[in-house]
Amino acid sequence: MLQPSAFLSLLFLLAAAARGGDYSRADFPADFVFGSGTSAYQYEGAAFEDGRTPSIWDTYAHSGHSGGATGDVACDGYHKYKEDIRLMLDMHLEAFRLSISWSRLIPNGRGPINPKGLEYYNNLIDELISHGIQPHVTLHHMDLPQALDDEYGGWLSRKIVKDFVVYADTCFREFGDRVLYWTTINEANIFSVGGYDEGASPPGHCSLPVQNNCSKGNSSIEPYIVGHNILLAHSAAVKLYKKKYKSTQNGFVGFNIYSFWFVPYTNSTEDVIATQRAKDFYIGWLVDPLIYGDYPRSVKKNVGKRLPAFTEYESKQIKGSIDFIGVNHYTTLYIKDNPSNLQIDNRDFDTDIAIEIKFKQGNELPDQYPIRPWGLYGLLEYLKQAYGDIPVYVHENGQLARRNGTLYDKSRVEYMHTYIGSMLDAIKNGSNTRGYFHWTFLDCFELLGGYGLSFGLYYVDLDDKYLTRYPKLSAHWYSNFLKGKSTSSNAITEVGDSTFVRQTG
Ligand SMILES: *[C@@H]1O[C@H](CO)[C@@H](O)[C@H](O)[C@H]1NC(C)=O
Ligand SMILES: *[C@@H]1O[C@H](CO)[C@@H](O)[C@H](O)[C@H]1NC(C)=O
Ligand SMILES: *[C@@H]1O[C@H](CO)[C@@H](O)[C@H](O)[C@H]1NC(C)=O
Ligand SMILES: *[C@@H]1O[C@H](CO)[C@@H](O)[C@H](O)[C@H]1NC(C)=O
Ligand SMILES: *[C@@H]1O[C@H](CO)[C@@H](O)[C@H](O)[C@H]1NC(C)=O
Repeated sequence: MLQPSAFLSLLFLLAAAARGGDYSRADFPADFVFGSGTSAYQYEGAAFEDGRTPSIWDTYAHSGHSGGATGDVACDGYHKYKEDIRLMLDMHLEAFRLSISWSRLIPNGRGPINPKGLEYYNNLIDELISHGIQPHVTLHHMDLPQALDDEYGGWLSRKIVKDFVVYADTCFREFGDRVLYWTTINEANIFSVGGYDEGASPPGHCSLPVQNNCSKGNSSIEPYIVGHNILLAHSAAVKLYKKKYKSTQNGFVGFNIYSFWFVPYTNSTEDVIATQRAKDFYIGWLVDPLIYGDYPRSVKKNVGKRLPAFTEYESKQIKGSIDFIGVNHYTTLYIKDNPSNLQIDNRDFDTDIAIEIKFKQGNELPDQYPIRPWGLYGLLEYLKQAYGDIPVYVHENGQLARRNGTLYDKSRVEYMHTYIGSMLDAIKNGSNTRGYFHWTFLDCFELLGGYGLSFGLYYVDLDDKYLTRYPKLSAHWYSNFLKGKSTSSNAITEVGDSTFVRQTG
């Protein structure tokens, strides 16, 4: 019989072994799902077809924010979904994360359903289900109908709550007999900050003195108003699901945030506290209310009166209105305390945190993310400790690359191998993580970088009018893993050079 401490260190050694070494699909719980994902605007194209109207993302892209690239055609998933689902089946993908374009289903955001939009999503969902692939569906992936933004300012107004609930009701009613996993809002925190503080994502609001070059906005207050309205809309949709659909459909409704992992730049008390503050702002700001009914103390303190307060009724409705947390995680940042930011008048979200990021992603995208798989472990361990046993889905994780025609994405293979291994370690230490979705299935339109960046398992030849898909090394690696083979990052040997199709013309 091992002593408890010896037992623990043995577990630890096993965990350490998994990180660098081999593991297989069978090491994960049987009901864990492995998938890949995309979103409507990034994948579908057919932006002006069959009654779809523009979303704020169409408007943003068409005003040149992604270097002139738009999702007008994207990967043409509106017409090519059957072909893509065939590829998913060959890969043994277990689940596919997609989003519904609100303005395709209900043009202009409110009013009658578009029968062509309804037909498309019914066909897409049926095609997945009939091939045994679980659909995990997001309702809002940065693509609010432009009409609602024009009419009352979209997410800046509480009027959004009513329209969002009607839209969610429509989706639950029409698709909920087949869809069990719903996410209301993708990257709610980044949508609020990118869209309404930094102007770096739709609808592109920001203001001086901290942020520059937007035609409208107020970076000091808008991100917090939007975040607040998102929580109200999310919880109202969940309330409706529980009342009207849960007992017959038996599905789950979650929420999604983007999160880096954060580590102190030095071990000084200031940097350690600043690192916790970064977690409070990025994670706690919108997740704490869903679990505990209120914003984190440090957020309330630094934002002050600019942070909307919950009424008792709202707090009660929001608390507990979540079946799972979805996280999009790519990389780890180093955090240094920066109290001087708190001297700025008309601060924004970024300065309210009072940190200096020592390795900043986003403004200047590197060619690739540095591979820091322990960051995913840290994040999952943190979610467990901060929020208990609530299920977690890794909704996005993957390696960035410049799109340059190569199918030989060795860095992506190494990234996936180490990050999935690190997630396995977290699960072994008690994390209630239930699924992993590699971002992304195909090289399509990306918010930052348009078609110049790629995250896909498949390369899409944009010069070919059929937009032919070609599997990269990473597609072979993931497929081998999903087929149950023991896998290491040495994919070349496993895949065999002969299966490898080189560059396309
Ligand atoms: C803001 O816009 C001006 C004029 O269009 C341009 O010169 C400047 O570089 C922009 N600044 C930033 C931070 O993008
Ligand atoms: C933003 O709103 C705050 C609070 O209403 C106000 O004090 C500030 O001047 C506004 N900033 C801009 C750029 O409009
Ligand atoms: C902080 O302390 C930890 C644990 O003692 C150590 O592993 C780490 O290297 C230290 N970090 C820095 C930047 O000194
Ligand atoms: C393309 O990018 C990959 C990494 O993303 C790199 O290894 C390769 O050398 C690049 N190829 C060309 C032709 O630039
Ligand atoms: C493993 O989980 C336990 C219990 O939650 C926690 O105390 C411990 O720090 C975790 N170990 C590691 C290495 O994260």
